[in-house]
Amino acid sequence: MSKYITLKVKEVVKETADAITLHFKQPLFRKIKYKPGQFLTLIVPVNGQSQRRSYSLCSSPSTDDTLAVTVKRVKGGSVSNYLNDNIQEGDKIDLMEPMGSFTPPEAAKNLVLFGAGSGITPLMSVIKTALVADASRQVTLVYANTHENSIIFKKQIAEFESKYSGRFKVLHILSQPQSPNWGNGLRGRLEASRTEEILQHCPDLKNLSNYFMLCGPQGFMVEAENIVRGLGFDNERIIKESFYQENGGAALSSAEIIERTIKVLLGGQTYELAVAPSKSVLDAALDKNLDMPYSCQSGLCTACRGLCKSGKVKMDTSDGLSDKELSEGYVLTCQAHPLTDDVVIDMN
Ligand SMILES: Cc1cc2nc3c(=O)[nH]c(=O)nc-3n(C[C@H](O)[C@H](O)[C@H](O)COP(=O)(O)OP(=O)(O)OC[C@H]3O[C@@H](n4cnc5c(N)ncnc54)[C@H](O)[C@@H]3O)c2cc1C
Ligand code: FES
Repeated sequence: MSKYITLKVKEVVKETADAITLHFKQPLFRKIKYKPGQFLTLIVPVNGQSQRRSYSLCSSPSTDDTLAVTVKRVKGGSVSNYLNDNIQEGDKIDLMEPMGSFTPPEAAKNLVLFGAGSGITPLMSVIKTALVADASRQVTLVYANTHENSIIFKKQIAEFESKYSGRFKVLHILSQPQSPNWGNGLRGRLEASRTEEILQHCPDLKNLSNYFMLCGPQGFMVEAENIVRGLGFDNERIIKESFYQENGGAALSSAEIIERTIKVLLGGQTYELAVAPSKSVLDAALDKNLDMPYSCQSGLCTACRGLCKSGKVKMDTSDGLSDKELSEGYVLTCQAHPLTDDVVIDMN
């Protein structure tokens, strides 16, 4: 299970008008290990309430001394605005150790990354690691933003483009470029109907050994996935990370879902929990003050993953889990409702 830690903010860097990067000091004696593409769960007191949110690491374990996350404001959002408005150098933040599986496979030598807006954050970690730590890797980045000034890591990406010119290609797409002279890529939105146009800029997209990583808003992800599938690549070559589910993940309504008592194995103890039909297994456990691992509570981050050792559960959404995890019996407790009376979920 992931552990809680408290880290000190070493530096706060303003990336754009609405995004900051928080650089955390690594602990002196037990450095925190992570893989490119993983995220931290920040536990932040907003208006007297402790709130958890996931933020992808944009730092690379191969190149950076600090652990860094970039937080972009969401309109009306409690934690993203709190962090942008309040956090300063020297502050301490509680968090959970790195988690997540949005990491390129070892075998992936040609990486094609589709990112939009704050979706660049895990991709930045992947880019730095691939370019600096493994000279055999090629990286193409297709990066969509609103305008020139909303491009997070603009300068760093340009520096990498010139330093690794044979191995790193970038195609910027701006929906509303401000400069009439902007000619550094495409105008408009990423759309599958523009595949030919995109291929003119990035012919390497067709390379049969490509692996694709996608991170951005829902509409962008759908178009990017359609492009990749249209080029003939399947699930095995597509790795996705979603930050937000626009429809909120439709809750199940089923006659099968009634109040049932289940067992949860956590920290070497067995707990009996009554799960009401309106609640998930995670909700019921938190109501009992169990110290369950969790972060997004919307089926995206997999922090709440447990192994269903007996019985049957139904999930509102299981998109965050791979086919392999599902076949092995893993469930997302924030999405799970027991369907039988013999459910045992192992969180250890
Ligand atoms: C695995 C993972 C990694 C993530 N990495 C990053 C990252 O690196 N950088 C980053 O800035 N964010 C990241 N996020 C999103 C982040 O966790 C928060 O969801 C985001 O900061 C909004 O939180 P909030 O408290 O400000 O908004 P909330 O108070 O939770 O929500 C306010 C309103 O905004 C809507 N909303 C919430 N999130 C979004 C969104 N992302 N886009 C549009 N509308 C939204 C909600 O439906 C609600 O109506 C990540 C999420 C996940 C699951
Ligand atoms: S808490 Fe994020 S998937 Fe359940």
